[in-house]
Amino acid sequence: SSRRVILQDEVKHVLEPFELSDEQLRRVMANLNTQMTNGLKSNDSENNDLAMFPTFVNFRPNGQESGEYLVVDLGGSNFRVSHVNIEGRNRLRLKNKIFLIPHSLLLGEGEKLFDYIAECLQRFIDDNGLATHKRADYKFDLAFTFSFPCTQTSLSQATLVSWTKGFSCTGVVGNDVVLLLQNAIDRRKTLQIQVVALVNDTVGTLMACSSLYRDCRVGVILGTGTNACYFENLDNVPKWAGERNQSTKQIVINTEWGALGKHGCLDFIRTKIDRELDESSLTPNQQIFEKMISGKTFYICKLVIFKRNLALYLGEIVRLIIIDLVRSSILFPDRMQKAPSRGRDYNIFLSLRGSFYAKHVADIECDKTEDLSVTASILTSIGIYDPSYDDCYIIREVCKTVSLRAAKLAAAVIAVVVNRVNMPSVTVGVDGTLFRHHARFRKNLIRTMSRLVPRTHRLVLSEDGSSKGSALVAAVNRHNQETLT
Ligand code: BG6
Ligand code: GLC
Repeated sequence: SSRRVILQDEVKHVLEPFELSDEQLRRVMANLNTQMTNGLKSNDSENNDLAMFPTFVNFRPNGQESGEYLVVDLGGSNFRVSHVNIEGRNRLRLKNKIFLIPHSLLLGEGEKLFDYIAECLQRFIDDNGLATHKRADYKFDLAFTFSFPCTQTSLSQATLVSWTKGFSCTGVVGNDVVLLLQNAIDRRKTLQIQVVALVNDTVGTLMACSSLYRDCRVGVILGTGTNACYFENLDNVPKWAGERNQSTKQIVINTEWGALGKHGCLDFIRTKIDRELDESSLTPNQQIFEKMISGKTFYICKLVIFKRNLALYLGEIVRLIIIDLVRSSILFPDRMQKAPSRGRDYNIFLSLRGSFYAKHVADIECDKTEDLSVTASILTSIGIYDPSYDDCYIIREVCKTVSLRAAKLAAAVIAVVVNRVNMPSVTVGVDGTLFRHHARFRKNLIRTMSRLVPRTHRLVLSEDGSSKGSALVAAVNRHNQETLT
């Protein structure tokens, strides 16, 4: 009908700024490349977007690792404690448990958060009988997977630079998080644990995949946040103040690429919606790139969505576009007449940040039903009752567009890192809910990468990578120390 044609034009107009050409993607790539080089030169955060943290991981697992380790994994959608047993290559046994972190702890005093982690460790050890049959003086080695930006001065010293992804505890930024965890552990007199390594989730993922694939040099997270690490030649890291010797030629660099755009290099593709989302977030003008692509997919507890700061980010972009379309009467033109008694729910959706999730984006964009019934039932579940076919159709277009943009951007940045690694073929270890659960996102990502990366490459999903990889880091560290003494 003519209304549909008009609609299509209007929707197109709104969505156009979200469509990225390969030329624009190549400009994003060039900007990231420059920012990476600058970040390797100096720690000048006034001018550099990327922290490019050297991680003190300068080895790849060689299959000789062994022993048992505890891992605490904090910063993704789940907080977990694991016990990892390593007996050489491909012989990793992992037992883990997810613990819920009460939301108040994420925004309260840091010391309480660390005390809670120690309490979970105690429960995990007791429930699994891990301390039985151990010598009285036995101490567990623990690797701390901590997915936030930290400056490291050794494997087991790491200062938190800033919180990201909706965490915001007091008394942690500027402090050594290894020490904070160690102190909390030591406050519980019954725990015999030494925190031996701090590992970013990207580094854990890289290590776990490196132990399985010889050409793995890059670790990527696409989830609640996004980030990557990779092996860089020390010759390319002028700011490296640590040792330089014959045996250390490469080191893993944690890029913290989520911060790209801090000084404006993404302004040419940012939309008015991106600005709106950023301005009302907990962290304005930070993690600009991350805010364009990452997303919290699953909420364990429905109550959590009512917290302002968890409007992360893909779902929220879609919600803001929907609001725009409602305001210009493109969506739900006769809404209130149809269901006045249900207006309240509808208004809640429109006014409540974070009420549309990345999972909704994924499910709607994959809706292949003829009457778009999947989309209709998702909309109904969040308070938009009886949407028309046109409404559903338009919202599916919005979801497809926002998700495609995210996948293209993710492809562009991964391409830069793969292109920097000087090898004929490169395997990239990937983890995170966005990559794991969003089939269309993954497909678009792979398709775009094949246009942007000339060399052979593949993306492999890492299973429990962060935890296993962190245990491997602790194992190599123990082995190195034993060889030295
Ligand atoms: C998990 C890791 O596998 O992936 C986490 O254990 C990590 O530490 C996470 O942060 C990233 O995914 P998400 O989607 O949970 O943020
Ligand atoms: C955020 C963190 C980063 C982490 C990423 C993925 O960007 O700053 O350290 O790796 O999220 O979890």
